[in-house]
Amino acid sequence: MNIVLVGAQWGDEGKGKIIDILSRKVDYIVRYQGGNNAGHTVVDGKKEYIFHLLPSGILHKGKICCIGNGVVVDPAVLLKEISAIENSGINVDGRLKISSLAHVIMPYHRILDQLRETKRSNKIGTTGRGIGPCYADKINRCGIRMIDLINPKVLAEKLRDNINEKNEIFQKVYSHQGFSFELVYKEYLNYGKLFSKYIFNCVLLLNNATDKNKDILFEGAQGTFLDIDFGTYPFVTSSSATSGGACIGTGVSPVKIDKVLGVAKAYTTRVGEGPFPTEFSEDFSETMRSRGNEFGATTGRPRRCGWFDAVMTKEAVMLNGITELAIMKMDVLDGLSSICVCTGYKYKGKLFKEFPHDLEVLKNVVPVYRKMRGWDKTVNKPLSYANLHRNAKDYLSYLQDTLAAKITMVSVGSSRQDTIFVK
Ligand code: GDP
Ligand code: IMO
Ligand code: MG
Repeated sequence: MNIVLVGAQWGDEGKGKIIDILSRKVDYIVRYQGGNNAGHTVVDGKKEYIFHLLPSGILHKGKICCIGNGVVVDPAVLLKEISAIENSGINVDGRLKISSLAHVIMPYHRILDQLRETKRSNKIGTTGRGIGPCYADKINRCGIRMIDLINPKVLAEKLRDNINEKNEIFQKVYSHQGFSFELVYKEYLNYGKLFSKYIFNCVLLLNNATDKNKDILFEGAQGTFLDIDFGTYPFVTSSSATSGGACIGTGVSPVKIDKVLGVAKAYTTRVGEGPFPTEFSEDFSETMRSRGNEFGATTGRPRRCGWFDAVMTKEAVMLNGITELAIMKMDVLDGLSSICVCTGYKYKGKLFKEFPHDLEVLKNVVPVYRKMRGWDKTVNKPLSYANLHRNAKDYLSYLQDTLAAKITMVSVGSSRQDTIFVK
């Protein structure tokens, strides 16, 4: 079975935990978009791993882990990640495959990302990792791909053109000295040598795998509302984080996808700027942030927190074709006397039941809430659906009915064991 896993909110839903759990059952795990703006947490016993570029199934020996063509790769970050995981005794040789078509993040992408943010009055709050500028070069047809790193002549030609053009922009627009061709060329040629054993035709690899009925798990990064087309533009990332991105970002056709699994928190969080209709007041946000440890896994920035937004998540179910949902972090809601779910938005006397495209509307809506009873402790041991607190069951069944997607997993803690599988 080929499953696409997507975040149904603004990222950080807990995708890493679910990918890790599902990895046991599949043969291949493939990241299809984003880059090291992602931070996917996997807790293995007492050890916590945060993956930025490596697929979150990498801890499972024998599984093939691919970085698809839709991903943008910062070689320095990936090298560090590989060496950290190998130091923990997990070998990636022979099972880490990087698509030859994946685009490469260059030093000028990182710096441009940061400079643009400081200049803009309408800041996005990017991770500053060079993601946007790298995707922009890809679309602009001047990007450098993994395959180019192992061809000194092609790399030199492409890099020279880029540096010539970019240095003028850096100097004239940003008063930045620009980049030395020789230094960047030397650094990236060296990455080519180090990565050559990992660079593959992943399109062929994955299609051959599906022909042999192998199972593939497509690991989405970011979340539906950070998607370049369907998210809260311009406060989004620069890739297709929705399920459609899985096909574009790997070369596996849509007819080969069997299921889309959405991951959502039992409440909502967001890092960076942009509208957030159900955002808590400053005080309550702080309380929930510390209960849920809501700090970015990549940048450490505090995450903004709010109630579960069913209008948004329903849109995510539609956009991605989600039929099953994993609801995460139910334990963080423990101890609240009541819990709210947003069922609609009010704006200038009008009730919106669908997610509005006009950001001006989204920025100014007043959420309509359904108030539900809270609980002291989500679940008693041994963990099972039957042992969930009655009010937690009511909450989940309300979400399931409203979203019209089956809740098949409920998470009540960061480790693998803290998971309820709903039959
Ligand atoms: P991702 O980007 O979607 O993979 O999510 P992140 O790793 O950025 O953030 C999710 C955070 O929540 C991580 O610190 C996880 O260890 C943690 N987490 C996942 N599931 C649960 C849960 O059910 N309860 C609690 N308390 N923490 C969880
Ligand atoms: P995971 O995979 C949460 C956000 C940034 C910023 C916007 C654009 O861990 O869920 P970018 O650097 O991509 O140009 O930043 O997108 N963002 C994320 N927020 N989780 C992520 O990934 C994110 N990746 C990017 O905070 O608001
Ligand atoms: Mg994350």
